[in-house]
Amino acid sequence: MLKSARSRDTLQYKVEFPGERKIMAKVGLREWLALAPVFASGKLARYSDETGGPLGRFEADFCNKFNVQHALTMSSGTGALISALVAAGVGPGDEVLVPAYTWIATAAAPLAAGAVPVLVDIDHTLTMDPHDILRKITPQTKAIIPVHMSNMVCDMDSIMRIARENNLVVIEDACQAVGLQYKSKRVGTIGDCGAFSFNQFKNINCGEGGAIATNDARLFSRARMYHDIGSMFRGHLDNANEAPMLGINFKASQIQGAMLNVQLKKLDPMIARMRERYNVISDILGKSSMMMIGPHNDVDNAAGLHVIFETSEDAKRFAEENKRGVYRLFDSSRHVYTNWQPILQQRTGHPAMNPFHWTDRTIEYTPELCAQTLDILKRSCRISLGENYPVALVAHIARRMSRQARSNSDNLLYATI
Ligand SMILES: Cc1ncc(COP(=O)(O)O)c(C=O)c1O
Repeated sequence: MLKSARSRDTLQYKVEFPGERKIMAKVGLREWLALAPVFASGKLARYSDETGGPLGRFEADFCNKFNVQHALTMSSGTGALISALVAAGVGPGDEVLVPAYTWIATAAAPLAAGAVPVLVDIDHTLTMDPHDILRKITPQTKAIIPVHMSNMVCDMDSIMRIARENNLVVIEDACQAVGLQYKSKRVGTIGDCGAFSFNQFKNINCGEGGAIATNDARLFSRARMYHDIGSMFRGHLDNANEAPMLGINFKASQIQGAMLNVQLKKLDPMIARMRERYNVISDILGKSSMMMIGPHNDVDNAAGLHVIFETSEDAKRFAEENKRGVYRLFDSSRHVYTNWQPILQQRTGHPAMNPFHWTDRTIEYTPELCAQTLDILKRSCRISLGENYPVALVAHIARRMSRQARSNSDNLLYATI
């Protein structure tokens, strides 16, 4: 929806998105108390405490909980994606497959590494359609970034099989699904590297922040050097015999580490509450003939719920009538590729630093490029699981939603006879 604005230029870019409610572990007294000792120590910077400090503790606990060998906290999920791509050797001339439904950072990260994003359709699970991955692979394809979108997990078995058969790197974007599991493995630990976000709207948060996780010592070492322009001066770090390389600064601070230590403890209980409510709501709405519960690539671990209607109008009406806690996915359009202006128009900061000029073939993005994605998003509504509300209340709301959908369809029927 466009809001009025002073000039045509601002008007063009001022877009408002309705009703996305974010899930996150609450921030409270415990985070507050965890910060005081960090301030008192005066060791606020990443490497001011050679024992690792709160960040070191967070990374060790994260590795334990996620059953992964290496984790590195960064200043953002975007920084984590870029560092992972660079560390994996992705660069100019390479194509990286990304879904057409994700936050723009997933598609921007390959460009920051010198490569170009190639858009892949999603399927009804809201994640990359493995069939379309196969269609989009070219001799230039170097990597896939499957995105576990809105706590929905990707079909990692198919994606890993395709990747291995085609010699592709897999960087999982688990920014929107921190802690979720796919077949007993935490997402972000299945591919070659995972990227996580800890910004304010994610499952655990420290305001802004991110991390990578990997079992590949070389990739980890390269990512650690890249995320820290000064890495060559960190004598205490083991760089796995990698020659020092230049990077950027995506380092996190010990303040973020202190907050994340508290948040990490809240993660699994929160996911358990989400799963309990997922089961209750999907049981109730699943009985309605008006909508279909969105399929899930690992329904036993499901903690994200959407319903799919036959027509886009049905989905729109359902979202309008339920408002709080429900929104039509197409209307959260910042996540839809058709709104990624700088990428669609292939505009970079400096015209000579434009990875689209370094490819063997011309990359074009058209509005119809991922028509399957648009169709699914127009017919789907996301339902908040209300993980902090009592189960009885959540069930009551779900029953009301179901009745509402039924009466809409009765009204339509009467209107047509
Ligand atoms: C799917 C996805 N990827 C990447 C990111 C980037 O994370 P950050 O905001 O921490 O840079 C986000 C954040 O919103 C995201 O939702």
